[in-house]
Amino acid sequence: MQHLQPGTTLQGGKYRIEQVLGQGGFGITYLATQVSSNRQVAIKELFIGGSGQAINDRRGDQVVVTNSANQQSFNQQKAKFKKEALRLANLNHPNLVKVHEFFEENGTAYYVMDFIDGESLRTKINREGKLSESLVLKYINQILPALDAAHKQSIWHLDIKPENIMVDRYGHAYMIDFGASKHVERTGTLTTSLALAYTPGYCATELTDLLNESEEGFAEAMREIGPWTDIYSVGATMYNLLTDNIPPSSKRIERNGRNAFTFSSDVSSSTKDLIIWMMKPNREERPQSINEIARRSFCSSCRDGENTIIERKRDTEEKKKKDEEKNRNEAYVLRVQLDENLYDGKYFVLGAIGGALGIIAGIKILGTNDPGLIPGLVVAFISGFLAVWYPVRIYVHFKGKDNIKKWKEQHPNDPRSKYL
Ligand SMILES: Nc1ncnc2c1ncn2[C@@H]1O[C@H](COP(=O)(O)OP(=O)(O)O)[C@@H](O)[C@H]1O
Ligand SMILES: [Mg+2]
Repeated sequence: MQHLQPGTTLQGGKYRIEQVLGQGGFGITYLATQVSSNRQVAIKELFIGGSGQAINDRRGDQVVVTNSANQQSFNQQKAKFKKEALRLANLNHPNLVKVHEFFEENGTAYYVMDFIDGESLRTKINREGKLSESLVLKYINQILPALDAAHKQSIWHLDIKPENIMVDRYGHAYMIDFGASKHVERTGTLTTSLALAYTPGYCATELTDLLNESEEGFAEAMREIGPWTDIYSVGATMYNLLTDNIPPSSKRIERNGRNAFTFSSDVSSSTKDLIIWMMKPNREERPQSINEIARRSFCSSCRDGENTIIERKRDTEEKKKKDEEKNRNEAYVLRVQLDENLYDGKYFVLGAIGGALGIIAGIKILGTNDPGLIPGLVVAFISGFLAVWYPVRIYVHFKGKDNIKKWKEQHPNDPRSKYL
């Protein structure tokens, strides 16, 4: 058995191994229990040996180096493993797995992390097939800031792929496995925490070049590595999650351009463009920092957003104006029906009848020979007219008001109400 058995304890009984979570070329990850608090943790153990050129073996719980010539190499890896743990412990980001403790035991080294109760995105697509664009963006939008936090400390992950992103059941995404990560020391020299990983499809050209580099050329080749190297892998990861296809190699992208990619038609052109930009074979054509991605994506989406809002606002205002005019016109017609019939000619006819009665009364009173007959009849007509027309007018006025009031009561939500 190459791994620790369930029930094995570490740190004098502080941790109890439960099961193996994963085994890579440079380490074994276990699910364990922190006994005092009965809390689940993940513990990674340095164990080199996945790829056949094992320099260590296990005897009981002990990891033993196969021969003394390998001892130095193993010690170097152990020092780097410790560095990886310390770097991770110093990175505090909700989307980076939290590292709590580092210790040496059993002839090897361990670090203790939060246990993520979830699965890797590889497991998820193996089970569900390709993921929806909105889900992929949801995860990547969490991974990018986490990566940015690492990049700000000059730590490049260098092994980003669906296997190394975990999601829990609440949809929270975590970047794990900084096993291949590199770090720029303050002096400007670069150190590799462990041997480099190489996953076809996810590996930017400058990283493949570095892997093929001789020792002399290594430092030079390292200068090509930077945030853009991780950005390439994030693009490749997005592509894999969206299509469930192995991402095209840089060579193929160089040869075929956009045709190297086969997206399904429901992927938005902005996401396609983003992936193609991130996966540019020439590192200088890629986004140079996570910030650049955020800025571009944010600005384009914010511009789009604003436009939509402005357009929507303008449309709404225009429609509101049109509606108001229509309601005002319709209300006028309605008002004439309910009230303004006051000015209807029939009331003048009534007034005229009153006037005629006034004239008849005038002639009767004055007689036809009265010298003041004409002015008298004019006064009599006006008086007769007003005596009939005015009370009718007042009556109709109040009747009209009453009609409007009743109509409004019967139509409380009619938009014409306010113009009546
Ligand atoms: N903190 C963690 N919580 C839960 N599972 C983990 C955790 N870290 C790693 N794993 C599981 O172990 C597997 C291997 O871990 P990883 O760190 O990627 O090492 P490697 O790829 O070198 O074996 C992961 O794919 C994941 O399934
Ligand atoms: Mg891994």
